[in-house]
Amino acid sequence: MKNLIFFLFFAFGFLGKCGSITSPRSYEAVFNFGDSLSDTGNYVGIHGSEVRVIDKHPYGETFFKKSTGRFCDGRIILDFIAEAYGLPYVPPYMDVANGKIQNVRQGVNFAVGGATALDAEFIISKRRDKIATLESLSVQLGWFKKLKPSLCSNEQDCARLFQKSLFIVGEIGGNDIGLATHTIAEAREIIPLIVEAITNATITLIEEGAVHLVVPGNFPMGCTAAAINMWRNSSTEKDYDSRRCLKPGNALVKHQNKEIKLALSELKKKYPHVKITYADYYGAAKQFFDAPQKYGFTQMLKPCFVAPDKKRCKATSKSYCGFLCKNPATYANWDGAHYTEAAYRIIAQGVIEGPFSHPPLKRPLIKIA
Ligand SMILES: *[C@@H]1O[C@H](CO)[C@@H](O)[C@H](O)[C@H]1NC(C)=O
Ligand SMILES: *[C@@H]1O[C@H](CO)[C@@H](O)[C@H](O)[C@H]1NC(C)=O
Repeated sequence: MKNLIFFLFFAFGFLGKCGSITSPRSYEAVFNFGDSLSDTGNYVGIHGSEVRVIDKHPYGETFFKKSTGRFCDGRIILDFIAEAYGLPYVPPYMDVANGKIQNVRQGVNFAVGGATALDAEFIISKRRDKIATLESLSVQLGWFKKLKPSLCSNEQDCARLFQKSLFIVGEIGGNDIGLATHTIAEAREIIPLIVEAITNATITLIEEGAVHLVVPGNFPMGCTAAAINMWRNSSTEKDYDSRRCLKPGNALVKHQNKEIKLALSELKKKYPHVKITYADYYGAAKQFFDAPQKYGFTQMLKPCFVAPDKKRCKATSKSYCGFLCKNPATYANWDGAHYTEAAYRIIAQGVIEGPFSHPPLKRPLIKIA
């Protein structure tokens, strides 16, 4: 008996060692596509000197102590994913394209703030005024294809790398709604197209060799200050819930997410060898909107930071002169359209450690603190 225990102990010890020779990590690389909710520097890299606000203080102040091109006071969901799996923060494609970053084998981020799921031509055709950026999903996929020869050298090598890579497609589509439509009713009409664009991107990546993809749904836009403001004119008092979230806005996103899940279940049938995870960002975020005090939040809808508008500040009211909260950890909303690091941490935790990813992601190397 003693011998047997010793043998088992020895055998497990040996297996453990063997495992660590390949890698203790569940994923070796992360490739991400999306908009400002997951941009780590592409928007600033593309728009350079036109950028007025997000390349300056207080962006990044909570964690990086400087602006990084993230639309946040600190880390975003993608950063928490990288940390959890023992990977470096996913570098923006623009840093790779301009030679600042050489190591691409641990992942690249193609997400661009303002990006849409549908091509820019479509958005422009619906809209009279400006579009934020032209790098829609199909442009981001084009970058990925262009970069592929530097990611891996041949089919076998690519297969080996992608076997252990996580591909994240989204969140994307929020800007399509914001830019191409004015009312919730109009937004509902373009949801089938948004879902089709997300599905198409997922298929493209599968055909390029992706074997584990995460497709997140949209966030509860009805609780996002920028969206509430955008829909204010087409809303009436009965549209708000007790927390001042717009019920039809959240219903719209729930509908969109249902359609995404439906499309993913079709893809799973078509590509049974591929693991496609639906990440329920809506459910993960709803946790803190429904019970703010449980998560240390005191402000849910009001942004922690409002950039000053110099012209309007002089001419009109004080509300245009800017605002910065003292403690971003007690705010869910960072700048109107985006969450704080505190909020992103909770969403990331819910997705990585459960129960908001279906099926679950692989086991993380470390727990999110
Ligand atoms: C999705 O792909 C199909 C097939 O290539 C194409 O006909 C369709 O226009 C694409 N849809 C979008 C929204 O990109
Ligand atoms: C709402 O209506 C007001 C008054 O007509 C207008 O000035 C404002 O631009 C509108 N807001 C939006 C977001 O459409």
